Amino acid sequence: MAGFRYRPEILDGMPESDIMYLKEYEDWFVLESDELKKITDHFVKELEKGLTKEGGNIPMNVTWVMGFPSGHETGRVLTLDMGGTNLRVCDVCLSTRKRDFEQTQRKFKLPDEVKTGTGEQLWDFIAGRLETFLHEHHDGGQTGTTLPLSFTFSFPVDQKSIRSGVLQRWTKNFNVSGVEGQDIIPQLEAAFKRKNLPVRIVALINDTTGTLIASHYLDPQVKVGSIFSTGCNAAYMEECELIPKLADIGLPKNAKVIINTEYGAFDNDHKVLPLTPFDRQIDRESARPGTQIYEKMVSGLYIGEMLRLIMLTLHEQGRLFKDQDITRLRNENALEASFLSVAELDFSDGLDDMREEFEESLGLSPNLNELKICRYLIGLVATRAARLYACGIAAICKKKNMRKCHVGVDGSVFNKYSGFKGRAAQGLRDIFDWPPNELELIALNSSEDGSGVGAALAAALVLEGEQKAKPL
Ligand code: GLC
Repeated sequence: MAGFRYRPEILDGMPESDIMYLKEYEDWFVLESDELKKITDHFVKELEKGLTKEGGNIPMNVTWVMGFPSGHETGRVLTLDMGGTNLRVCDVCLSTRKRDFEQTQRKFKLPDEVKTGTGEQLWDFIAGRLETFLHEHHDGGQTGTTLPLSFTFSFPVDQKSIRSGVLQRWTKNFNVSGVEGQDIIPQLEAAFKRKNLPVRIVALINDTTGTLIASHYLDPQVKVGSIFSTGCNAAYMEECELIPKLADIGLPKNAKVIINTEYGAFDNDHKVLPLTPFDRQIDRESARPGTQIYEKMVSGLYIGEMLRLIMLTLHEQGRLFKDQDITRLRNENALEASFLSVAELDFSDGLDDMREEFEESLGLSPNLNELKICRYLIGLVATRAARLYACGIAAICKKKNMRKCHVGVDGSVFNKYSGFKGRAAQGLRDIFDWPPNELELIALNSSEDGSGVGAALAAALVLEGEQKAKPL
């Protein structure tokens, strides 16, 4: 189709003059290989900068997890995983057989009030759910022993040890008062105490660290752990001698430590990411403008909103949903990432599933041409997200000179949005110029529900260390 760089098949049959305005969207959202390469190269420099004393946009947080599990860890650990959407409580039993474990888990939705209330409300909510879980699975925890607990907290924390962590800032539109700048462990412990829960926090980890540990445990070729969900982030193992900000600590020469990059903050200073007017609007209207710029272009929390803003703009220009009641389309965050995923799975001629989604989520009844246009826009937004996601993974691999490895990825968008993984893999292929007939050297592998076992293994490593440190 003249004017377009790609022939958007879905638009076949529509008069070109009717859709030429979409060309602008293609220009905004399509990222060619050379742009991905440029972004990746800058990303590598920013990862390096985050390891220096001066720091940069990317925090590169030291996790104090200084090795991978051997696979022989044993014991029973409770884990709490506070993600962007859910709180997951797990009871993990690491067996004496190598790489074997059993887990019982329960998921609770984090209510919106809890995400924007006070710290005390948040910690009490978590303690309350843990109490419920203990009643269901541990006789209320009345067995007389104190259970070790590992807490997965999916936000950036500055850690002086694995048992502490000062919240640097809320991300993912959380806005809980009284927690930023504070060590979260004493706050959570106080909530446990208020309910007399017989638990002892032994480790505080990030979800990417948990995913890295869990997926490396099952597949030692995994070198990067990543989350693609409400937020987007990755962790990897670094040599301590390559971390200038740890130079004065006197660590042994060969020491290694897992770095939680917190690379959602990449390019907060707007050097390379090609921001569209919609990206700027999302940032402006977010709980923390100016932060997590990369994450806001990529992750599940924002891609639905991105589509909504585009559709609203096109409606206002008289191009979509003429004479329809768009009240619900005006509601902020009216669309979740799953809306895009369902739409892209509809291969019917009449796009019936997609129409149903529009009716259910937005109360709209678009005609077929409108549906096709929206489908095209969804493809643009989702492909850009996947290709930008590839840049972060590629940057870690480039920084570490890893030409070949596996990446363990967890998170609902990665695991449930069909087509996402293929697009991200194509992004990696474009960045590294792998020929079409060559296998993927850096493979993105789904690591579902790894958080519980990853956190339990982190705790087992700590407990092992404590055991060794005890005088005979
Ligand atoms: C956000 C958080 C980060 C987390 C990621 C995925 O980027 O800051 O800690 O790993 O979301 O949940």
